[in-house]
This record gives sequence, C-alpha cells and structure tokens, in this order.
Amino acid sequence: MLDKQTVRDLSDDQLRGKRALVRVDYNVPLDADGRVEDDVRVRATLPTLGLLRERGASLVLMSHLGRPKGEVNPKYSLRPVANHLAELLGDEVDFAAETVSQEVVAKSKDLEPGEILLLENTRFDPRETKNDPAMARELAALGDLYVNDAFGTAHRAHASTAGVAEFLEPAVAGLLLERELDYLGRLLKDPARPFVAVLGGAKVSGKIDLIESFLGKVDRLCIGGAMACTFLRAMGLETGKSLVEEDLLDFAARMLEQAGGVLVLPTDAVVAPAIDRGSEAHVVGRDAIPAAEMLLDIGPASSSEFASIVRGASTILWNGPMGVFEQAAFANGTTLVGAAVADATTAGATSVVGGGDSAAAVAELGLADRMSHVSTGGGASLEFLAGKELPGVAALSDRE
Ligand code: 3PG
Repeated sequence: MLDKQTVRDLSDDQLRGKRALVRVDYNVPLDADGRVEDDVRVRATLPTLGLLRERGASLVLMSHLGRPKGEVNPKYSLRPVANHLAELLGDEVDFAAETVSQEVVAKSKDLEPGEILLLENTRFDPRETKNDPAMARELAALGDLYVNDAFGTAHRAHASTAGVAEFLEPAVAGLLLERELDYLGRLLKDPARPFVAVLGGAKVSGKIDLIESFLGKVDRLCIGGAMACTFLRAMGLETGKSLVEEDLLDFAARMLEQAGGVLVLPTDAVVAPAIDRGSEAHVVGRDAIPAAEMLLDIGPASSSEFASIVRGASTILWNGPMGVFEQAAFANGTTLVGAAVADATTAGATSVVGGGDSAAAVAELGLADRMSHVSTGGGASLEFLAGKELPGVAALSDRE
C-alpha cells in the first residue's frame, strides 16, 4: 500500500468548499489545427476530478505541455486542452491565460464548488523546471490543498510537481497516481511467477537502469526492436545499417555475460534497406543481416518465441514496440507480442504496459482494454521500475 496520503483519505472538512490545486499531466499531442490528438492522459484524470467535485471542492488544474523552455509560446498553450476537457465533462472549464498572478488567485477564490479552472502552461515560467521556491509559493496560493495526479511527470522535481507540496498541506496523491504506483509497484514487490519483461523500441540508452535492475528480478527478459541490435553486435554479429549504440556495446556485453538464460534476443529479423522501403522487406537469420540493410522488426521465429514466453507468464511488463509497427511490413512482431500479452491477461496474468510508444502500439492494436494496466508515464515508469525515487511522490504527505 502507498505510504502517502491519497484523495481517498481526505475528510469532508478538508474538501467541502475548498480549492483543490491539482497537478495533472496534460502533456498531450496536438494536431495541426491545435486540437487534442490523443486524450488518454486527459481521460485518465477524470476519476480524480469527479471525486473532488462530488465531495464539494473547486478545482484549479495545472500542467505543462511540451518543452517551451521558460517562454510564452502559443504553440504550447493549454487552451485547447481546456476546451477538450470541457467537451469530455459536458461542463464548463474556465481557462486562466496566466499561470500565477494576483488575478489568478482572485479567480481561484471566486470558484464555486465543482467549478474548474485550468491554468496556462506551467513551463511558460522559467522558474518551473528550476523548482524555484518563489514559484512554488505562488502556486500554493491558488489552493487550500494539493493533489498530484500527474504520474507522467512525477520523475521531475519541478515547482508544480514537488516544490509546491512544501507550501500546501495536505499534499495527496490522486487516483491515477495511486493506480499507477499500485500496478507498477506490484512488478517490484513479490510478482507472481513466471515474471516476464519484453522490452523494445529504438534505443538501449533510455533503458539501461531498467535492464540492469530487471535482469536480477525477472525469469525471462525478451529484447526486441532496434535496441536488440546493440546486443547482437556485442555478441559479435554483423548488424548492417541497423541502429547500434556503439558506446553501449560494453554494457550490452556485460549484461549478456550476467544474464545466463534470462536474456532472450531475436534469432531472426525482418530487414529492408530503409524504413520507407517496406516493399523490399524480407526475413533473415540474425547472423545474416545484409551489410546494406537494417533490422526493422523481429522475425517470425522470434515473434513466436517471445509470444510463447509471454503466454506462459503470470506477470508481464511490456515496454517498447518490437519494430516499426506504424508500417504494416514491420508490424508483425509487435502485433504478435501484443496479442500474447492480451491473451495471457485474459488467462489471469497481470500485465503492465509502459507509457509512450508501447501505449500507442497497444491503442493502435485495439488491445488497451485487454491489459491490466497501461501506464500514462513513459520516463516516469522507467525510472520507477528501475528503483528510483520519484520526486513528485516523495514530496506528498506521509500516511499517518
Ligand atoms: C512525458 O511526456 O513523459 C511527461 O509529460 C514529462 O515530460 P518531459 O519529459 O518534457 O518532462
């Protein structure tokens, strides 16, 4: 159980007629017309917003969007997200064109129970990413209590995710943050066995800590996607034009040495001369990747092997696609692994899908509802699973 207080611990006195300052992660993609393209992160906060409104609080929401580097940039305005949230709720959502100011404080105090005000992008203020205490104090003036429901940003020690909690009590976890920590925490604490992790995506570099810590925890660790090529090269195989992180070859060799039978790498590959030449895709053994071609998906034998390992698992972590799944010619590995994770879940396994690309793959395959949990955090889930403390969680009030 989480050792931090959550919104469910709050009494009526702490909520009724109070302003809840809620950090959400509405860092969502916008399309060319500035409309929200993928609203999973927005919908994921609705249970917390619903609970707070039902219990008589008014809501001041804050988030970042993109990396505007401390400058006001209309491209990164949260206004379209306010409109989108209003559509989802079928209710009004007020928008503050500033993040902190006396006017915004006054606006927050005018809110009636159940009303919602979304602040402009916290990262338009250069003090946000520096976790400046002055900004944290100004943010704290906008609420009577603090709720963090921004799991996707919990690995950042910023004014709105960590600093603000020093100036506002109680500081509690929202339902999304609690759910994320519950599911991800189950992987770290006594997972039902066999415990299998499937990692993919382009680069090893973002997943070094996770690989290192998981090798000692899981029964099998399957590595697909372009990141497998760094391991294949470390085994002395030729990988053609595939993406290989030369500076990680020693790391990969060390992992291969330590892994024993735990690490499972592809035995075959779908290759082509370039990503945009899917019509020339063909299958080769992992020891026969042509010099002028690159691995763009794991091959059919590897896909079956990964899928069968996953089907036999009781706990599964899946983070990263097995190939360039956006293109049909390179989607087979991701499709088969995704179906295997879904089937294993139906059969009783607990499955957790990391955020970012794997969440997009699961949505694209129409399998999101068949997983136990699809995380809304990319970097945050990787850091948490690698055993790091998340500043956004550490800052919250301890459970008595
Ligand atoms: C994310 O999308 O991973 C989070 O919103 C954090 O964004 P950041 O990497 O720009 O801090």
